[in-house]
Amino acid sequence: MSDELIISRNGHILDIQFNRPTKKNALTLDMYKAITSAFEAAEDDLDVRVILLHGAGGTFTSGNDIGDFLANPPMDESAPALRFISTIARTHVPVIAAIEGVAVGVGSTMLLHCDYVLATPDARLQFPFVNLALLPEAGSTYLLPRHLGYTKAAELTLLAEEFSGAKAVELGIASRNVEAADLMSEAMAVAAKIAAKPPQALRLTKKLLKSEQAKVDAAILEEGRLFGQQLTSPEAREAFSAFMEKRKPDFSNLAG
Ligand code: COA
Repeated sequence: MSDELIISRNGHILDIQFNRPTKKNALTLDMYKAITSAFEAAEDDLDVRVILLHGAGGTFTSGNDIGDFLANPPMDESAPALRFISTIARTHVPVIAAIEGVAVGVGSTMLLHCDYVLATPDARLQFPFVNLALLPEAGSTYLLPRHLGYTKAAELTLLAEEFSGAKAVELGIASRNVEAADLMSEAMAVAAKIAAKPPQALRLTKKLLKSEQAKVDAAILEEGRLFGQQLTSPEAREAFSAFMEKRKPDFSNLAG
């Protein structure tokens, strides 16, 4: 693995940093594979009591690398992006995220599987999927209406506009706002508090909190199936090409 993902251990804390700042920490296939392996190893190691996710360069992540979507579309559950989503959705290890800058696409949906999210008030979150002719993933079509109510979920996914870290706290997607200068020290402080607790009790508590897991798993599967179909659609090709060519997509002639 290149240095695009920096994984380190600090006592009982597993620290995972997205480190591709020139691309806003967009996640590549190799990054997904390495994060998934780190989560799997943590699941089998009671010595890891908490996982901390954050990004380099003042940003969390802009989600899946769009060039990768074109070159290696995730067509089934074995795709690295989908394996990562299933793994973070099912882990019993508590997960903390510290977000600033952009947290877009899976950068937003993965937060729905974190247990404590610190966000700068001006962080930029977005569920941009329909703008790319794609579908919300990571169980978000189940979790968002369930936790935010239908109206808010529809606004966030159909209008698909950016919203702030301050709004994320108001909505309950993030736990607490912290200014950028204090973000990592506060995240480490929360991680240290969790890491001092008995690991088996932590994991069993999280397991009990996730009583809806089967429904989340089913949503992830169905989203993945439809997502795979959409990826090769003419409207998705237009959206991706427009992004790569830095122009506005034109969906005006795509009637089905
Ligand atoms: N995949 C690939 N490249 C990405 C990327 C992504 N998800 N997000 C950003 N980048 C690249 C940009 O193409 C740009 O590359 P360049 O310098 O070679 O031109 C670089 O990262 C910086 O991004 P830029 O767009 O200039 O930054 P910004 O602050 O103006 O905007 C975003 C940031 C995240 C709002 C914008 O880049 C964006 O909308 N990215 C797509 C996010 C997305 O839709 N992700 C979900 C995929 S399902």
